[in-house]
Amino acid sequence: MCAGQEAWIASAHVTTVRVNASEPVSIEADALIVGVHATPDGPTQAPGADGLDQALGGRLAEILNAVGFTGKAEEIAKIPTFGALPAPVVAVVGLGDRPDGDHDPETLRRAAGAAARSLAGTASAAFALPAATAEQAEAVAIGGLLGAYDFARYRTHGEHRAPVGELVVLSDAPGAEEAVRHAAEVATSVNLVRDLVNTPPSDLSPARFAEIAREMGGQAGLSVEVLDETELKEGGYGGIVGVGQGSANPPRLVRLAYRHPEAARTIAFVGKGITFDSGGLSLKPAASMDWMKSDMGGAGAVFGSLLAISRLGLPINVVGYLCLAENMPSGQAQRPSDVLHTYSGKTVEVLDTDAEGRLVLIDGIARAAEDGPELIVDVATLTGAQIVALGWRTSGVMSNDDALREEVVEIAGAQGEGAWGMPLPEELRKGLDSPIADIANLQPERWGSMLAAGIFLREFVPDGVRWAHIDMAGPAFNKSEPHGYTPKGGTGAITRTLVGIAERYAGRR
Ligand code: BES
Ligand code: MN
Ligand code: ZN
Repeated sequence: MCAGQEAWIASAHVTTVRVNASEPVSIEADALIVGVHATPDGPTQAPGADGLDQALGGRLAEILNAVGFTGKAEEIAKIPTFGALPAPVVAVVGLGDRPDGDHDPETLRRAAGAAARSLAGTASAAFALPAATAEQAEAVAIGGLLGAYDFARYRTHGEHRAPVGELVVLSDAPGAEEAVRHAAEVATSVNLVRDLVNTPPSDLSPARFAEIAREMGGQAGLSVEVLDETELKEGGYGGIVGVGQGSANPPRLVRLAYRHPEAARTIAFVGKGITFDSGGLSLKPAASMDWMKSDMGGAGAVFGSLLAISRLGLPINVVGYLCLAENMPSGQAQRPSDVLHTYSGKTVEVLDTDAEGRLVLIDGIARAAEDGPELIVDVATLTGAQIVALGWRTSGVMSNDDALREEVVEIAGAQGEGAWGMPLPEELRKGLDSPIADIANLQPERWGSMLAAGIFLREFVPDGVRWAHIDMAGPAFNKSEPHGYTPKGGTGAITRTLVGIAERYAGRR
C-alpha cells in the first residue's frame, strides 16, 4: 500500500456548499460571482446580483466594456471592488446570448463551474447567479462543486492553488436548501469517481478498488460482497477470469446492494472496471495506452451512483456490479483463439484480447439478472468506435427496448451529460459467429463496432429483461483542456445519469 491512499475520503470533500438568502451586495466572501449575457447592446447583467451595479456607482457596463467582456458562455473577468462591497472581487461569468431564455440548468452549471475553477486559491465564493428556483440553485451548486474539483494527491513540488474552500449559493427560492444538499451528495460522488479514474493503475488494482468499495460502501450503508480470483474461478465467471489472468493483480467482482424498506422496484447497474487496459496480447500501440487507466470509469460511475443513491435514501432497491480486472499481456494471459466458459453458460471465442470490456460485462450482466431487476443498465468505456461516431462528449446509448433507450437519453440530457440513441442492427449479429464457440468477441470488420459490441452484450441479457448499454469511451476522460464544470482527466461521466435513472424509477423527479 502506498502513502496517500488513506486520503481517499478526505480528498473527496474539500469544497463545501451552503445556501444564503442575503443580499448579494452585503455578503462576506472573497469573491462574488455574477452572470452576464451577451446581447446586441453589449454585455447585460443577468438576474441574481441585484444592487451590484448601484453599489459600483452604476458603472458595471462601463467596467465590462473597458476590459472587453462580451458575456459569451464561460467567459470570466475579475473586477476589484475597492471597498464598494464586502467582497474584494467580483467574478463576472458569461451566460451566453440567450438573455430571454429561462436560464436552463446546464448553462448555469457550466457558468458556475467555470467561475469556481477560475477562483482556485480563494477561501470562499458567493454565487449571485440566477437562482430564482430550487432547480436553478441546485444547478449553480453542482456546477460550482464540480468545477472546483482538483486532483493534487501526486504533486509534491511547484505552485499549486487549492480549490475554493466554501461555496455560498445566494437564493431565497423555496426548497433551495434541500436542492443544494442534493447537489452536494451527487457532486461528492462524481468527484470521487474522478479521483478513482485519475489514480494511476499501480495504486488502483482490482483488489484495491474492491477494498475501497467495501470500506466506503459499508460506511454508506450498502451491503458489499467481493468475489476474489479463486471464488470467481469456482463460480464460473470465465469472462472476468479470462481477462484478469494475464495480470499479477488478480480480478474481482464487487456486488453493492442498496435496499429501501418502501421500495417497490429493483434495478441493476453493471460497470466495466478495467483498472488498466494494455490490450493484453492483442497489445495496444503506446499512444492509445497512456490513458487506459480510465477504462474503469464505468465501474466508477456505478460505485459513485450507489453511494449517492444510498446517502439520498431513494425509495428503490439498486444493485450495482463492478467488474474489475487488469488487462495485461504475460505468460499467463489469455490468447487470441482461447474459448471462455462464461457465467451465463455460453462459450465465447476470444479473437482479440483488446475487446475485453464485453467479456467482463457479460459475467456481470448474467449475475445481475439473478437479482431479478426490472432493468439492467451497463456502463462502459467500451469502444473507440463510440468516439469516432459521437466524439468526446456524447455517449452512445443502446437498448433492447426503444422506450428505455429514449428514457436513458432524456435523463442523461437533463443532467447535461451528452448521450445519443444508437441502433442494434440485426445484420451485425452474424459477424460475431464463431466456428467453434457460441459467439466470438469480435466481428471481422471494424465498421459499426460500437454497435457490434452492443449486439454482443445483448446476447447475454436474459429474455424479458429490459437492458440499456451506455458506451462512454470518450466522455469518461477529458484529454484536452477543462471546460465548464469538466476538468482535465477523469470526468465522472454518467454517474449523475445513473442517479437520475434511480430517481426516475423511485418515482422522484
Ligand atoms: N477500452 C477500450 C476502448 C476505448 C478506446 C476506451 C478509447 C476509451 C478510449 C476497449 O477495451 C477496446 O480496446 N476496444 C477496442 C475493441 C476492438 C478490439 C473491437 C476498440 O474499440 O478498438
Ligand atoms: Mn481493450
Ligand atoms: Zn477496455
